[in-house]
This record gives sequence, C-alpha cells and structure tokens, in this order.
Amino acid sequence: MRLAKFYAALAAIANLFQINALNILITNDDGFGVSNIRELYKAVKALGHNAYIVASASDKSGTGGSLSFATTANLTADTQYGIVKAGAPSVGADPNDSHIWYYNGTPSVCVMVALDYILSTFANFSTPDLVLSGPNYGDNLGDFAYTGSGTIGATYFSIGRGIPAIAFSANYPTTTPYYEVNTTTKAGLKDPATIAAELAANLVQSLVAKANGSRILPLGYGLNVNMPYITSFDNSSCVDPPLIHTRLTGDAWSYGVKFNASTGLFTAGLKVGNDATGINVCINGDCTLIGETALIAKGCYSSVSVFTVDYDAPNFGNNVVDETKLLGALVQNLNSTSLIGGLNATATAGRNASVTTPTATSSVITNDASAARWTRYSGTAASLWLVIGVFLLCSF
Ligand SMILES: *[C@@H]1O[C@H](CO)[C@@H](O)[C@H](O)[C@H]1NC(C)=O
Ligand SMILES: *[C@@H]1O[C@H](CO)[C@@H](O)[C@H](O)[C@H]1NC(C)=O
Ligand SMILES: *[C@@H]1O[C@H](CO)[C@@H](O)[C@H](O)[C@H]1NC(C)=O
Ligand SMILES: *[C@@H]1O[C@H](CO)[C@@H](O)[C@H](O)[C@H]1NC(C)=O
Ligand SMILES: *[C@@H]1O[C@H](CO)[C@@H](O)[C@H](O)[C@H]1NC(C)=O
Ligand SMILES: *[C@@H]1O[C@H](CO)[C@@H](O)[C@H](O)[C@H]1NC(C)=O
Ligand SMILES: *[C@@H]1O[C@H](CO)[C@@H](O)[C@H](O)[C@H]1NC(C)=O
Ligand SMILES: *[C@@H]1O[C@H](CO)[C@@H](O)[C@H](O)[C@H]1NC(C)=O
Ligand SMILES: *[C@@H]1O[C@H](CO)[C@@H](O)[C@H](O)[C@H]1NC(C)=O
Ligand SMILES: *[C@@H]1O[C@H](CO)[C@@H](O)[C@H](O)[C@H]1NC(C)=O
Repeated sequence: MRLAKFYAALAAIANLFQINALNILITNDDGFGVSNIRELYKAVKALGHNAYIVASASDKSGTGGSLSFATTANLTADTQYGIVKAGAPSVGADPNDSHIWYYNGTPSVCVMVALDYILSTFANFSTPDLVLSGPNYGDNLGDFAYTGSGTIGATYFSIGRGIPAIAFSANYPTTTPYYEVNTTTKAGLKDPATIAAELAANLVQSLVAKANGSRILPLGYGLNVNMPYITSFDNSSCVDPPLIHTRLTGDAWSYGVKFNASTGLFTAGLKVGNDATGINVCINGDCTLIGETALIAKGCYSSVSVFTVDYDAPNFGNNVVDETKLLGALVQNLNSTSLIGGLNATATAGRNASVTTPTATSSVITNDASAARWTRYSGTAASLWLVIGVFLLCSF
C-alpha cells in the first residue's frame, strides 16, 4: 500500500515533468561559444527541457535591440574561439552539437533567424515556449542598460514576437570559452559559469512549476535578472545568492563621456545618477520595491525585475501626467469631428476638450523607508513637471 502510494507519487511527479518539459531557445550577446551560455544550455537540458542555442558567431555586446545581418553568405573570419572556420556558411550548427547554432548577426537577428528559419527547419518545434538570454558577462542594471544591452535586446525582441523571455546577467567580467569551464575551482567549488547557469535554470524551473502548463509569463511581459559576483574561485561567501524582487529603476545610473584632449577621443564612464535623473522617477509598477542597481550594490543578492514591452506612458499609477494637457491642441484624437492640420500654427481648440482624461495621482505608499525615498522622487518629479509646464505655456 505504502509502496503503491510512493509509485503513484513518483508517477505524478514524472507526469508533471513530462507536461512541463519546455522547448527553450537560448541566446546571448557574448557569442555562442562562451561558458555561460553553454552551461545554461546544459542546466536546462538536465531539467528535462528541449533546448536550442542560436547565438551570435562572435561578441555582439552593447548592440541592444539593433538589427544587423550577415552581409556575406559565408563567414569572412573564424567564429568565436575558431569553433567554425572562415569560409563556412554564416549560419550553421556547432560541429559537436546539432542543437547549438551560430549566426553572424546581432542577438535580436539571431532570435529572428532561430524563429523563422533554424527551429522551423531543423528542430522538432517552431515556436519556443521560452527564450533565455545570457547569462551575460557583466550586469545589466537599470533602464540605460535595458536599451543598450544585447542580452536584454534579444528578450524584448522575443517578447514582441509573443514569446516569454528572460534576460540573465552575472557580475563576472571576463568571458571564457566553454571548453575551459572548471569542474571545480581552486576553492573546490563549482565554476562561476556553472553556478550562474544553475541559478538561472532554477528560477526558470520555479516559474515552470508556478505556470503549471500555462504560459511562463503573460503576453508582453519579461524579466530582467542580475546576479552578483559569484566568489566560487576563491571562497563560498557568495555562491548561492537569494533572488529578490526588484524594479528596473531606483538608484539607477545613466552615463556621460569624458573628452581626452590629447587623443581627441571620448570615453564612456562618467556615471550620472541621483534623485533628479529621469530614470529614477517611479511611474510604473510597485514603487516600494528596491531598484535592481541598489540591490546588487548591497551584496550577495540576485535581482528579478518584471518589465513589459508596452512602452506607452501609463494613464494610471504613479507620477502620471495627463497626456491630453501635455500635448496641447495640435495633437488630436482620431475621432475628433474636425481635425485641424499640423501646420496650423494658431490652432488652439483642435482637441476635443470634452473628452474626459485620467487625473494624475501622486499617491505613494508612505509607511516604509523605501517609500520615503520615492516620495522624494515624486517631489522632484513634480517640480520637473512644473518647469516643463511653464516651458510649454511660454512656447505656445
Ligand atoms: C568537439 O569536441 C571535442 C571533444 O570533446 C573537442 O576536442 C573539439 O575541440 C570540439 N570541437 C569543437 C569545434 O568545439
Ligand atoms: C560558401 O561556401 C560553400 C562551401 O561551404 C560554397 O559551396 C559556396 O560557393 C560559398 N558561397 C559563396 C557565396 O562564396
Ligand atoms: C523533440 O526532441 C527532443 C529531444 O531532441 C525530445 O526530448 C522531445 O520529446 C521531442 N518532442 C517531440 C514533440 O517530438
Ligand atoms: C578555469 O580556471 C582557470 C584557472 O583558475 C581560469 O583561468 C579559467 O578562466 C577558468 N575557466 C572558467 C570558464 O572560468
Ligand atoms: C495544474 O494543472 C492541472 C491541470 O492541467 C490541475 O489538475 C492541477 O490542479 C493544477 N495544479 C495547481 C497547483 O494549480
Ligand atoms: C571571498 O572571495 C572574494 C573574491 O572572490 C573576496 O572579495 C572576499 O573578500 C572573500 N571573502 C572571504 C570571507 O574571504
Ligand atoms: C588621455 O589619453 C592619454 C593617452 O591614452 C592618456 O595617457 C591620458 O592619461 C589620458 N588623459 C586623461 C585625463 O584621461
Ligand atoms: C475619442 O477617442 C478618445 C481616445 O481614444 C477616447 O478617449 C474617447 O472616448 C473617444 N470619444 C468618443 C466620443 O468616442
Ligand atoms: C467633441 O465631442 C462631442 C461628443 O463627446 C461631439 O459632440 C463634438 O462634436 C466633438 N467636437 C469636436 C471638435 O470634435
Ligand atoms: C487653425 O485652427 C483654428 C482652430 O483652432 C481654425 O479656426 C482655423 O481655421 C485653422 N486654420 C487653418 C488654416 O486651418
């Protein structure tokens, strides 16, 4: 009887795994041969998922969502680490694994090539249940990185095609080839690439369990996950960071440049970030959450931020501006009975003033420390809008 129950439970678990085995596409912007992407591929396969890698033939870091295609049918240079030699086709499989593909283009284009050619032609599925990007070498924190990172670019492109996607980034600076992953480090621990991959796969698995056979994330939604520096080369002080729910903005940075007069060149690097920067105004989401940048700065934590690809300004929530008032008379509703031309410099009443518009709310939770910080941002934001308002008034 006991044994029967045990086997029934086992069968239920096996059934669960069967039902929840996903078709996963993995990509990155560091190149198809780096340790992190290969370790993630191994980790999700070990969990029973059917995985394909389609990633850039070489490093395409910092390309965001940009679209850059191969311009020759055959490679004019070896791929990363000489895995495939010049002269081979610009799209192809790793000679050692028919589920690992390279394409000589940016991450978003690799996803396109995967969805519209590789998977439908060579895999036993066409549309993945999930796209995973990374883990990137180096964290991608805040909305500056959101648009600039090829790792994240591949995810917002995938989400645009209707597929849930997660960007993973790990605070580990040096890219290493997949064949140099150490079984154990000098400290007797797993390679940081293996740990980053297992952390990523574990998060995926918890989402799979939660989804229970449904979509992993709702249409239009994605996750940006950042991991701290994994210390497994040296010690075990940060090898199992907890995953913390964060938001993209909040104590985030933007960047500036330095001009070097003797070289005549600009270099990036000046961090610009404080309460008054636009990237730290809380408009969408839960303002009480700690920003991912602030969390990673705190120590051994991983951040998980939820984003959507609906970039429209919201008409409800925090620090919301009434768009109809912001845009003035020239920008009209499509249903207006008499649209006035955009060259009409004296237009004053084109917009139907009787249309009801949402009212701005600045209500922010006030009973904890992080809320106090956001209240401060709201104040700053309010004065900013006042300045913009005065500016708009003067210019009309
Ligand atoms: C394929 O695997 C073999 C043995 O694991 C290795 O020696 C070889 O370098 C690999 N080839 C490529 C292109 O990675
Ligand atoms: C590309 O390489 C293949 C051999 O791999 C060759 O047959 C083909 O002619 C080459 N194509 C071009 C455009 O050079
Ligand atoms: C697709 O292939 C994978 C292994 O490559 C296999 O585990 C899976 O069962 C296959 N799925 C279907 C629907 O044939
Ligand atoms: C494996 O360890 C060696 C020596 O510590 C190091 O140089 C190499 O980068 C490690 N490989 C990876 C993938 O981290
Ligand atoms: C998961 O889905 C199955 C049906 O597909 C249902 O029977 C089961 O109750 C669900 N489990 C949970 C925890 O929601
Ligand atoms: C563990 O190693 C990291 C570098 O990987 C170092 O910064 C840290 O101080 C070390 N911690 C301890 C407790 O030795
Ligand atoms: C400007 O560039 C030169 C040459 O690389 C370098 O030696 C110098 O330190 C740079 N100056 C500054 C202010 O960064
Ligand atoms: C006209 O369009 C606006 C914006 O879509 C909408 O809010 C408003 O309700 C519409 N008015 C009528 C009368 O349909
Ligand atoms: C404004 O909307 C009302 C109905 O809501 C309509 O009767 C009127 O014609 C509209 N005026 C213009 C200028 O579109
Ligand atoms: C410009 O718009 C006003 C309404 O704001 C209208 O009375 C006037 O006829 C328009 N002029 C032209 C040239 O369309």
